[in-house]
Amino acid sequence: MSQHILTAVAWPYANGPRHIGHVSGFGVPSDVFSRYQRMAGNKVLMVSGTDEHGTPIQVQADKEGVTAKELADRYNRVIAEDLTGLGLSYDLFTRTTTKNHYAITQEIFKGLHANGYIFPKTTMGAISPSTGRTLPDRYIEGTCPICGYDGARGDQCDNCGNQLDPIELINPKSRINGETPTFVETEHFMLDLPAFAGVLGSYLQSKQGEWRPNVLKFALNLLGDLQPRAISRDLDWGVPIPLDGWRDQPNKRLYVWFDAVIGYLSASVEWAKRSGDPDAWRQWWQNPDARGYYFMGKDNIVFHAEIWPAMLFGYNGEGARNGTPGSLGKLQVPSEVVSSEFLTMEGKKFSSSRQVVIYVRDFLARYDADALRYYIAVAGPENQDTDFTWQEFVNRNNGELVAAWGNLVNRSISMAAKNFGVVPEPGELTDADRALLERSRNTFGPVGAELGRSRFKNAITEAFDVVREANKYLAEQEPWKLKDDPERQKSILHVALQVVDDVKTMLTPFLPSSSNKVYAMLGGEGVWAGMPEIREVDEEGGSPYPVISGDYDGAARWEHRPIRPGTPLAPPVPLFKKLDPKVVDEELARLGQ
Ligand code: MF3
Ligand code: ZN
Repeated sequence: MSQHILTAVAWPYANGPRHIGHVSGFGVPSDVFSRYQRMAGNKVLMVSGTDEHGTPIQVQADKEGVTAKELADRYNRVIAEDLTGLGLSYDLFTRTTTKNHYAITQEIFKGLHANGYIFPKTTMGAISPSTGRTLPDRYIEGTCPICGYDGARGDQCDNCGNQLDPIELINPKSRINGETPTFVETEHFMLDLPAFAGVLGSYLQSKQGEWRPNVLKFALNLLGDLQPRAISRDLDWGVPIPLDGWRDQPNKRLYVWFDAVIGYLSASVEWAKRSGDPDAWRQWWQNPDARGYYFMGKDNIVFHAEIWPAMLFGYNGEGARNGTPGSLGKLQVPSEVVSSEFLTMEGKKFSSSRQVVIYVRDFLARYDADALRYYIAVAGPENQDTDFTWQEFVNRNNGELVAAWGNLVNRSISMAAKNFGVVPEPGELTDADRALLERSRNTFGPVGAELGRSRFKNAITEAFDVVREANKYLAEQEPWKLKDDPERQKSILHVALQVVDDVKTMLTPFLPSSSNKVYAMLGGEGVWAGMPEIREVDEEGGSPYPVISGDYDGAARWEHRPIRPGTPLAPPVPLFKKLDPKVVDEELARLGQ
């Protein structure tokens, strides 16, 4: 049965190019998942965009000496190119500065407000004594009142992960000039999180055994201390507050996280408008059979497993104060929050300022997207913090992609192409032939089951077990020695090509570009796995901007396809580049190590 699957991918801040730490968390996993779901016959809507408001953008804009809007325009494009280069199959990758996004964000705010889940509160806000201007939370640093870490920021402590209010910091200092901020009264809107304690509790409890244990544990822990949370900021960059008396205030905006999570919905609506059926988004948001999977790094769990569900429950009128759904109708909460852990690089935290970084675009200038996708799938931070090392990258590329899989493909196809020019007709099959064919065919089920549960490491490892068995089979059967027995040679090569075809199908979610090559070499026609592209679009009354989209209805299906004897074989091309071991030293030198 075909299901509607929303793949909701965390929105990268438009404050710089993406590095491989970013894309290992939200990017590659969400794409592998979506590609698998499409192959399994489900209707996938994969949406995201750049997150363009808030202090992260303002801070970087100040550094680069441009306006926030100019900065967002610059990095929206850069990031769209990074993600397209990785082959990430977004149905729509847009941005948060569209009119559509503003309108949907304001609608959600109004719905929550009408149901009584948003209330105003006078709080203490920091200002800089020397300029008299408000000092955004991120610009304030001090000692964490919870764990004692002395580099905590005004919005959160990176050491213990707690959300903070600047006034709670011990010894607060401005990061701009070191002065001690003064705190003055300022009015803000609060989201009444305690009103969702009951509904969030039963929601999360119902996910036991389904979500990754570390994600669920983290989310359940948050329930112990639900506090009302400010969802507005003293800032001139962001979505205006849609209430009389607030709308026109130049220095009050919605908090960036409040608008960003709404992006999943607004991007779905934008996608529907662009597809020509403005109501099409409802199939993924209001149909009880639809499922929504959210992909991110672990620092985003609180927003996706607590705040976003609370916002949706509140909009629906399902918190302690009840209420009625807003004008969009009742909306569905996430089915699963799929979070990765962190990736480090050569033992250190990624840091653009300290040059501990490899940007996606630099990576792709030197290596293939599939090589990185493979590394992230097999050795990425799926369940625990993980270190990227150039040595391991080269080892896995050369040992697994080139020597195991690439070699199986190339020797099977080149031997068959050279001797027969077509997929050979098999004769009588031996037990060994049948065992390998069955093994390969029976692997679709388990690998698909792992992919459907976002257990990517298990999935790719099982698919590679078949590669190893096929290589062992060829080593034992030695078809290259069978010049005098062309009938037996045909059978062996037929078996090998069938397994190559099966495995390329199972590897398609991970390695779409190289699987397309295998498909073509085996005589496949048309598109196997569609690839994303950048298009320029505009909005009525707005300026043009790039989006990622694509036609992903290729021939790829999650099933064994019997290869047809007589199909012409294309001469093989190398699938992967073998890397010189000195790449390791070169890359370490670039890192200054
Ligand atoms: N921009 C945030 C980050 O990079 C992620 C936003 S995800 C969304 O951490 F849900 F808010 F969109
Ligand atoms: Zn702390």
